[in-house]
Amino acid sequence: MKVACLGGGPAGLYFAISMKLRDPCHEVVVIERNRPDDTFGWGVVLSAESLDILAENDALSAADIRRNFAYWDNITVHYRGTETTSGGHGFCGIGRQKLLSILQQRAKNLGVEIRFNTEVESAAHYAKDYDLVVASEGLNSKTRLEYADHFKPHIELRKCNFIWLGTHQKFDDAFTFIFENTDKGWIWAHAYQFDDDTATFIVECNDDVYEKYGFADLSQQQSIAICEEIFAKYLGGHSLLTNASHIRGSAWMKFPRVLCENWSHENIVLMGDASATAHFSIGSGTKLAMESAIALADYLHEESTVAVAFEKYQDARRLEVLRLQSAARNSLEWFEDVERYLDLDPVQFNYTLLTRSQRISHENLRLRDKAWLESAETWFQSGAGVNDEKPRAPMFAPYKLRGLELKNRVVVSPMAQYKAIDGCPTDWHFTHYCERAKGGAGLVFVEMTCTSADARITPGCTGLYAPEHVAAWRRITEFVHAETGAKICCQLGHAGPKGSTQLGWQEMDAPLLNGNWPLISASGIAWSKNNQSPKAMTRDDMERVRDQFVASAEMAIQAGFDMLELHCAHGYLLSSFITPLTNRRDDEYGGNLENRMRFPLEIFHSVRAVTPVEMPISVRISANDWVGSDGITPEDAVDIARMLQQAGVDICDVSSGQTSTLAEPRYGRMYQTPFSDRIRNETGMATMAVGNIYEPDHVNSILMAGRADLVCLARPHLANPYWTLHAAAALGDDQVKWLEPYQAGGEQMIRLAERGEGVAIRV
Ligand SMILES: Cc1cc2nc3c(=O)[nH]c(=O)nc-3n(C[C@H](O)[C@H](O)[C@H](O)COP(=O)(O)OP(=O)(O)OC[C@H]3O[C@@H](n4cnc5c(N)ncnc54)[C@H](O)[C@@H]3O)c2cc1C
Ligand SMILES: Cc1cc2nc3c(=O)[nH]c(=O)nc-3n(C[C@H](O)[C@H](O)[C@H](O)COP(=O)(O)O)c2cc1C
Repeated sequence: MKVACLGGGPAGLYFAISMKLRDPCHEVVVIERNRPDDTFGWGVVLSAESLDILAENDALSAADIRRNFAYWDNITVHYRGTETTSGGHGFCGIGRQKLLSILQQRAKNLGVEIRFNTEVESAAHYAKDYDLVVASEGLNSKTRLEYADHFKPHIELRKCNFIWLGTHQKFDDAFTFIFENTDKGWIWAHAYQFDDDTATFIVECNDDVYEKYGFADLSQQQSIAICEEIFAKYLGGHSLLTNASHIRGSAWMKFPRVLCENWSHENIVLMGDASATAHFSIGSGTKLAMESAIALADYLHEESTVAVAFEKYQDARRLEVLRLQSAARNSLEWFEDVERYLDLDPVQFNYTLLTRSQRISHENLRLRDKAWLESAETWFQSGAGVNDEKPRAPMFAPYKLRGLELKNRVVVSPMAQYKAIDGCPTDWHFTHYCERAKGGAGLVFVEMTCTSADARITPGCTGLYAPEHVAAWRRITEFVHAETGAKICCQLGHAGPKGSTQLGWQEMDAPLLNGNWPLISASGIAWSKNNQSPKAMTRDDMERVRDQFVASAEMAIQAGFDMLELHCAHGYLLSSFITPLTNRRDDEYGGNLENRMRFPLEIFHSVRAVTPVEMPISVRISANDWVGSDGITPEDAVDIARMLQQAGVDICDVSSGQTSTLAEPRYGRMYQTPFSDRIRNETGMATMAVGNIYEPDHVNSILMAGRADLVCLARPHLANPYWTLHAAAALGDDQVKWLEPYQAGGEQMIRLAERGEGVAIRV
């Protein structure tokens, strides 16, 4: 086969090597615009695991790379005058120039021709003369542009500006992050050693700081002089170096996230950064490029045709790229939004930094550096008022909100049971809620409890609008208080446009087959074309509904609840005012966000006025309508939270969606937690996170990173009322109390858990 690799970076060279190794008869040429030793960039990080993969493909070059590796185990973070080091991270790095010269030499030895100093203008030119053309020209691939109609690249320029520098200052004891607060704002560096006397030093900042320094108009040397001054105390008199002098302009860049829909066209195939990129903060671009080279060489030798090989190559590698790009997105967004975290205590700041890609969890950090993690846990507990020397997982830290004291941070999220009769809770509710309260969670929510019969979602929903409702709820709260250490919260709500529908396990959100009642909403917009059109509320309706909320709140207090929540999420009545998708009013309750919040806030103020001062009130919101800028965005949710905070709401329960049938939510592990994180860290308001949180590890990571104050689990508590007790056993926490009659069961579970048996919950 005659093969041309356009671009002699890691992808092109390693593919050339891999082809020759599989069949020395291939005629392979690598065409590279630069000279052999003038390379852009400094050291790159590769993991030990990546090197094993390379060694399987070519033991010789892998051994050479291994010989030139710099290893380090620690990550050090300099932040607000503190230096925090954690260990067990296990990185290795190599100079990019060294890596390329190893690959160039190995390629030459295997008979690959490398044409340096040769610019590729058009892949079409090579496609005529070669059986296979590999477009491996990196980030700014000309081939990708030439065949853009076929490759369909998606390129997204990310927000931060960075410059890739080097230094002879030693950073050989740790991968080092340095955050500096300058008079123009925050600027930070990622520094790591890659050979005996050189380290990579990447400097990064946001647009505002970039503009204030005027970096765009400065020469590389001028920028470097400024960076040297900013980071002087870490550079020990050493200068910062550039090897990008062949690049015109400032050499500052914004990172482009690249992903092509198609990776091949006729006999041309994309590889490495040309096909897809992964942000440098997770250090995986070189690994992706070299592993793609191995994969394509394998498929070309396994499959009967080039077309099938291309197809398999794209399927396999695109999936891997998507996985890494998702971690890279979390990581780069953390840096883009770092201002949000710059008020955190150094311990928590360090923790958020280490867990930013969400690939490293709480328990994973324990494996890496137990002592450091335990010191962080102790810090967390002491912030919660527990000054015990013995570290404990954050989920078991108590929490105080006004006069309410919770024994831990786990919350049973509100979940409609659809088992009420005429709004009255039944024995179902008694056993259901009492069991959850026995299960160890600090706070148990009851389902959306409606303020009138026509405020119900379904005929099976609970209410608080009749004396018998108060009595039935009181029976539950009394048991919870007498027999368990849990507290219990009543979620008050009005279904609005989503009322008069079937039970949850019948046709969800569909109208009743008969006996429907009339609906009200912010505007006369039906939930779907099958639902009845609600009446747009008049001021009289608002006053009636407000008074019903107040009356229900008073009944909830009489019934013995410890806390109240107003349901302002999921498309129900109060949510229908907040989201512009269902609020088309032209009075003072419609239009801008301030107006749309007016009625929900009026209800809050009225309820607050009748609620004892020691009792907290939360508000649940949909922090994202998942319809882009037509609806509520996570940014709007911050403004909503600010208004709630100013009104005196104690904690924001951050859910999302269910406000439009057009929503396109991006589900995933902890998928709504970023909205809680943003609200908590941008406003300082206390938050609860919810949504696909199911492992103790998730709960601990969220709390320790300061992404929420409390963590709600809904479905896991349907599957297992004793979720918290099981989590404690799985974590080896022997301080969590099992109720007396159940102690024998608890002791057995803890013993079994120590042997890795008997608990349904993974840590
Ligand atoms: C600041 C920064 C830090 C990074 N750190 C890491 C890290 O720690 N770990 C890691 O794994 N990755 C890292 N990367 C990513 C890594 O550098 C790339 O993912 C990797 O180099 C991709 O290899 P490639 O062969 O696809 O492209 P490149 O390495 O970009 O190679 C492309 C080659 O093609 C040549 N070329 C381009 N156009 C033409 C043309 N028209 N004619 C002829 N030749 C041409 C170029 O000169 C170059 O030699 C980092 C990237 C940046 C920007
Ligand atoms: C059966 C069921 C009923 C629910 N009922 C309510 C409710 O009454 N009020 C509410 O705010 N959320 C309700 N939710 C949403 C949950 O509180 C929670 O936000 C959602 O299920 C995501 O959490 P999870 O991934 O832990 O299940 C309900 C969820 C389920 C599964």
